[in-house]
Amino acid sequence: DGSMHGKDVLTWLDYNQAEVSQLLAQAQHLKENPYSQSLKGKNLAMIFEKSSTRTRVSFEVGMVQMGGHALYLNTRDIQVGRGETIADTARVLSGYVDAIMFRTNSHGRLKELAEHASVPVINGLCDIYHPCQALADIFTILELKGRLCGVKVVYIGDGNNVAHSLMILAAMMGMEMVVSAPDGYQPDPLITEKSQALAKRYGGSVVLEQNPEKAVKDADVIYTDVWTSMGQEEESEKRLLDFKDYQVNEALINKAKSNVSFLHCLPAHRGEEVTASVIDGSHSAVFQQAENRMHVQKAILQAVVGWK
Ligand code: CP
Ligand code: NVA
Repeated sequence: DGSMHGKDVLTWLDYNQAEVSQLLAQAQHLKENPYSQSLKGKNLAMIFEKSSTRTRVSFEVGMVQMGGHALYLNTRDIQVGRGETIADTARVLSGYVDAIMFRTNSHGRLKELAEHASVPVINGLCDIYHPCQALADIFTILELKGRLCGVKVVYIGDGNNVAHSLMILAAMMGMEMVVSAPDGYQPDPLITEKSQALAKRYGGSVVLEQNPEKAVKDADVIYTDVWTSMGQEEESEKRLLDFKDYQVNEALINKAKSNVSFLHCLPAHRGEEVTASVIDGSHSAVFQQAENRMHVQKAILQAVVGWK
């Protein structure tokens, strides 16, 4: 209905259940009908402060499939790398392109870009959120389980950007979300509080359970992410120790429902947060999940910059 037209997508906290449901339905339509001219002549600038495989390729291919174009901009190469401000970059790019995707180490910089851009800004991962990932995650869960309401998703590991966005969307869709993280790696308390308020409103729940074996009881989905995110490399030795009891392995999978699905945003480190036997095994749906990034992002792009 055009309610999202012109809006930024920084966090799903700025959206409601009806809008998210509409995006999921449109993503389903686009998965079945990938090619169109629905974004003919539209350009997306993609600014990356860090590495990417999925986000970069899925946004670019998605734009082209809809008749548009995408530009890959690394901050090392553009003038931002030599000190041009984010605000000026936002003002300049707004004169050329129809939307900007930004992957940054700092939510503050993302907000600054959005504030000074006159075109929609899409969060391609920041230190706090990964909204495009979470939309693909719940889209995949809907495909796998046939529903979202009441589905139990257990996130094991670091209470990071991926966990935060999943908590928010799970709560908004009435799911039962459990986060199992060791001391010092719990999700942000404010985001936990906001997710719990959403869960209350939509009939779901968001629970913190430090013991992973207790957490996965009756799980429909087990989810994990890397123990060391991009930018945390100097902590990786400490993190290997701190997370050692939080590996998703066959013993843990066997404590969940027999038809439990395994999800991971990727890239994965086999032998760390997940064993090869789990991620390459029959419960895993990680490549379906990765493909779905493109379908949901195309729905987002159509919603915020599509021709009306
Ligand atoms: N999951 C994800 O965002 O992957 P990339 O870092 O490869 O984009
Ligand atoms: N938590 C990870 C996700 C990568 C897609 C990171 O921020 O590096």
